[in-house]
Amino acid sequence: MQMPVPIPVALEPAILEKAACAPHPAALSPQRKAELVARIKQLLVEKDAVLVAHYYTDADLQQLTEETGGKVADSLEMARFGHAHPARTLVVIGVRFMGETAKILNPEKRVLMPDLEANCSLDLGCPADEFNDFCDQHPDRTVVVYTNTSAEVKARADWVVTSGIALDIVRHLHEKGEKILWAPDKHLGRYVQRETGADMIRWEGSCVVHDAFRTDALAELKKKYPEAKVLVHPESPESVIDLADVVGSTTTLIQAVQSMDAKTFIVATDNGIFYKMRSLAPDKMLLEAPNRGIGGSCESCAHCPWMAMNSLENLAEVLQAGRNEITLDEGIRRKALVSTQRMLEFAAGRKGK
Ligand code: 13P
Ligand code: SF4
Repeated sequence: MQMPVPIPVALEPAILEKAACAPHPAALSPQRKAELVARIKQLLVEKDAVLVAHYYTDADLQQLTEETGGKVADSLEMARFGHAHPARTLVVIGVRFMGETAKILNPEKRVLMPDLEANCSLDLGCPADEFNDFCDQHPDRTVVVYTNTSAEVKARADWVVTSGIALDIVRHLHEKGEKILWAPDKHLGRYVQRETGADMIRWEGSCVVHDAFRTDALAELKKKYPEAKVLVHPESPESVIDLADVVGSTTTLIQAVQSMDAKTFIVATDNGIFYKMRSLAPDKMLLEAPNRGIGGSCESCAHCPWMAMNSLENLAEVLQAGRNEITLDEGIRRKALVSTQRMLEFAAGRKGK
């Protein structure tokens, strides 16, 4: 098995600067909130639009999405839902790659986002030109990219994966004897490599939120709550994953809180997920895994600075004006569709079993 190839992530300082301690959306008076919610509900009907939101977004946005027949989900399910829904406009409440995935799959639909600047450190840390050079150096490898990437990077890939399906797809490729080039998340890549035994070389990107979870402080918290189960998203460092009882996608972690007998959970992922966990399992005690943001140099405070850019206010504005539309070069879109569709077909086959 080859050793991972370290890739310099040229945008690192800019990424960290952008990620500096974003606040949650500004607090609204109850009256203002009620006005915005009513306005958005009306606009969704008028514009034949549906909301598709990620679990890390603000609780008000998640609640409104579900009240209006939209979907709050992980990346895989967001892609599936948007594709299957008949609405002519999809409003993706999340980060840029989620909006782009919706457009890749639904060129005939209008895809809007509350803020087009809402990005992801994994996407920003994997520029398409540098990634293409990396792929050119390894033409014998099957290119597997995490969905947290631009349409251009997906266009170069053979397969797109999400955290919910990465293990199954890489295991499948490994069983066929294929060698993998993986990008961009180094922690998820290492975890997948370890679990599947696949021959993988990896891009060295990371998520500013998950990379900041602290192993030593987590081990201390575990000692204080020995009965607690530890839930970890696989974008976290290996030493944090090693302390986990459950490792998986956001959906897997939510299901674990619901289905496990334990009463206390320590959660190592973005704290936006607590809204859904609390509403599905109100009797469970949920603790945030310690993060460098707490009492240290604040990079993330366990909340994605880009997810936090979505608010009721910019959602209402975007729906009203019909702006912030995702557009993609058609050649790129068609190529990115091949690798994205492959994942969805694989997922559909797995569901059918
Ligand atoms: P999920 O697909 O597990 O929801 O993860 C998306 C993400 O961006 C995690 O940081
Ligand atoms: Fe990207 Fe991390 Fe934010 Fe997820 S939490 S969107 S991986 S920066």
